[in-house]
Amino acid sequence: MHRAELILVTGSTGFLGARLVTELLELHPEASLALLVRGRPEQSALDRVAAFVPARHRPRVQVFSGDVTLPDCGLSQEDYRRLAASVTRVIHSAATVRFDHTLEEASQINVEGTRRILDFAAHAPDLQSFTYIGTAYVAGDRTGLVREDELDVGQGFRNTYEQTKCQAEALVRSRQSSLPIVIVRPSIIVGDSRTGVTTSFKMMYWPLKIYARRLWRTVPGSPGAILDIVPVDYVAAATARLAFDPAALGAAVHLCAGSRSSATLHQIATRASEYFRVPAPRYVNPALFFGALRPLLLLTLWGRRRRILHDGRAYRSYFSMRMQFDVSIAERLLAPHGLQPPPVMDYLDRLLRYCTDSDWGRKQTAAL
Ligand SMILES: NC(=O)c1ccc[n+]([C@@H]2O[C@H](COP(=O)([O-])OP(=O)(O)OC[C@H]3O[C@@H](n4cnc5c(N)ncnc54)[C@H](OP(=O)(O)O)[C@@H]3O)[C@@H](O)[C@H]2O)c1
Repeated sequence: MHRAELILVTGSTGFLGARLVTELLELHPEASLALLVRGRPEQSALDRVAAFVPARHRPRVQVFSGDVTLPDCGLSQEDYRRLAASVTRVIHSAATVRFDHTLEEASQINVEGTRRILDFAAHAPDLQSFTYIGTAYVAGDRTGLVREDELDVGQGFRNTYEQTKCQAEALVRSRQSSLPIVIVRPSIIVGDSRTGVTTSFKMMYWPLKIYARRLWRTVPGSPGAILDIVPVDYVAAATARLAFDPAALGAAVHLCAGSRSSATLHQIATRASEYFRVPAPRYVNPALFFGALRPLLLLTLWGRRRRILHDGRAYRSYFSMRMQFDVSIAERLLAPHGLQPPPVMDYLDRLLRYCTDSDWGRKQTAAL
């Protein structure tokens, strides 16, 4: 007899996770979901989920209060055993995406947390697939074409996020002979391609915001740097399909714009300059900026601009990337589902409009 689908999702309260939950519920109407969610002092795990799961879907959603850094993910022995006995698929999206965590902090969540979810999956007799959400930036400081079957080729990393996500993916790959694993590697995830809506103003939104507000104009990078950006609707739709696709088992899949759909820093900056009606950015060689200009500016700037200079360190060398993500496997696996990433320049205006309409996330808008 066919077993009823029960999908365990971690990271469901996150930017991608919440969208993925909605996609899974819509796409697989027979499936139920089990969400592993951290409670907060002011809000239970159940209340957190009620905030983003539409009421009509709630009967199909079970919520488990847990934390991937705790033994048995913080689940009671009974819940752990019951869940492992009934789960048919796992999608592991929980991670810290902060660039400023120490290696120890990032490892606890990204590596050890992944290990605990893999251990859990190993106790699930009916498991059909284990989908791990990685990142294309495990490629670190590589240049040139990065293939989907590659992982550790001796690259360096810009931050503990990239480093620990690479370690976590290596761990996931090491279990490939015993678990039905699918690895997806998105690039930079941005808002919805049709509405521009985003719940996360991290990553590329921060530099856009300070630029739009005329707080900063100098970009330590090169105009020809490649920005590989994908909308959250594409990443969620692709993940929800690949998690159920036997052809994807054993594959690592770049959910990236690739050469066809990515854009250069100059293309994006030019459009942003027109849209926000601010002067075009000035490009400065990153080595010159970080080696000479930044130390000087730190001596002379105070207040908001000094904070920008400080926070901007996290973006060091993201604006001079010469890396292109190969998407051959993604194209082969997603073509039968009719999915491909839209070109960034086709929906960039919608992203920018949402930024201004929502005052960079401060206001609720009709689109939400
Ligand atoms: N955003 C991007 O541009 C991007 C690009 C490529 C890949 N990815 C990958 O996509 C995945 C989701 O990223 P995101 O952008 O959705 O990040 P996010 O918005 O920061 O969400 C992270 C999720 O992980 C959960 N989490 C963190 N630590 C946890 C712990 N100890 N135990 C249980 N849950 C924990 C968070 O729960 P709380 O709500 O309790 O904090 C949240 O639900 C990550 O694996 C990330 O590496 C993201």
